[in-house]
Amino acid sequence: MTGLNPNTLNTVEALIAAHTPGYALEQRFYTDPAIYELELERIVNRNWVLAGHQSELANVGDFKVVKVGRESAIVVRSPDKSIKAFANVCRHRGSLVCLEAAGSTRKFTCPYHGWVYDTDGKLVAARDMPDDFDWGAHSLNTVSCDTIHGLIFICFSDAPPALENCKRELAEPMAMFDFENLKVAAYREYPISGNWKLSIENYQECYHCATAHPDYARMHTLMLDRKKRERVQAPMLERMEACGLKDINIDRIDTSARPGEIGYGYGRTALFDGYQTGSKDGSPVAPLLGNLKGYDGGASDFSLGAFSFLLAYSDHVVAYVFTPVDLNNSRCDIYWLVRANAVEGKDYNVDELVWLWDITTKADKTIIANNFKGVRSRYYKPGPFSGMERNEKRYVDWLLQELARP
Ligand code: FES
Ligand SMILES: [Fe+2]
Repeated sequence: MTGLNPNTLNTVEALIAAHTPGYALEQRFYTDPAIYELELERIVNRNWVLAGHQSELANVGDFKVVKVGRESAIVVRSPDKSIKAFANVCRHRGSLVCLEAAGSTRKFTCPYHGWVYDTDGKLVAARDMPDDFDWGAHSLNTVSCDTIHGLIFICFSDAPPALENCKRELAEPMAMFDFENLKVAAYREYPISGNWKLSIENYQECYHCATAHPDYARMHTLMLDRKKRERVQAPMLERMEACGLKDINIDRIDTSARPGEIGYGYGRTALFDGYQTGSKDGSPVAPLLGNLKGYDGGASDFSLGAFSFLLAYSDHVVAYVFTPVDLNNSRCDIYWLVRANAVEGKDYNVDELVWLWDITTKADKTIIANNFKGVRSRYYKPGPFSGMERNEKRYVDWLLQELARP
């Protein structure tokens, strides 16, 4: 690994020691370039990030490029039909190899001096190299890649966190929505003018939902207090079985007792009465997922690792991926998934499908940018979390735990 400056480690250690539990993070966590470097090394590049769905790479040679922080990966369906990922960095003098966002190809040609790699990452052509040139030693570097019930994940570490428990425990809830057989109906990128942690922290809490997201708040019940929530939750729980859903709750977010393992969770929350899904008028926007037999009026939250969150309505799934771009910028990538055999224009309409989370994410972009401006002010001081920000507190605790882990 890169030689970390001992001063940075001392500073971070002191900042972590000074952190008040239940309070927001100190300013330097959002502004110090040295801390950002440490985050890349200890958090971002060490964790799995959602890179899409296997249906996007249906045929051999189909590829997409996925960027996380400073890294870029080519994710490709290789000749043996498996999905592989390679660092998008030429083994000659380091240029990015693939400049296209996605496509289908039999080889990747570096735009700089024309070195050519096949879809297994192997170097197959390079002009004017000496006789003793070792071709086998100049393949593209491998990036860790795995699929979890159809979802592609990548990790820029050769020793990524273990996924076995996550795969095993999430198998049942993911099977209810038949994650293996979904397809991406829409994909959008939302650049955010704010440090990546603020983007994820904002997603972790619904304290802001009632004020910032009127459309979200008229259908989702996450911002209700426990008593009111139980009242809306009960009728959904009664409807679930007839709709083909099981009441499952998994909370394995906390990894403090199992360092080096992915955190994950699952739970289903009722929508307000009259809403079958997250759409403008609450009526379905796509065919029912998997073997579901009806609308229970609920939405399921999945979390897989530190950057990837999914919301499964009965007729579509919305997947959110939050990643850093640099110290001051982040990005939210959103995938809208429907059952694989749904037909656009007949079974679903993209504008209707994306409506709720497009407006909600655009509002969040502004919220996060304003938050980042204030956090950089000389008057910023971390304030206390409310009860509704308990997930954010857990996230902040996890961040500090990982930042301190050598
Ligand atoms: S840097 Fe890629 S061919 Fe030279
Ligand atoms: Fe929000």
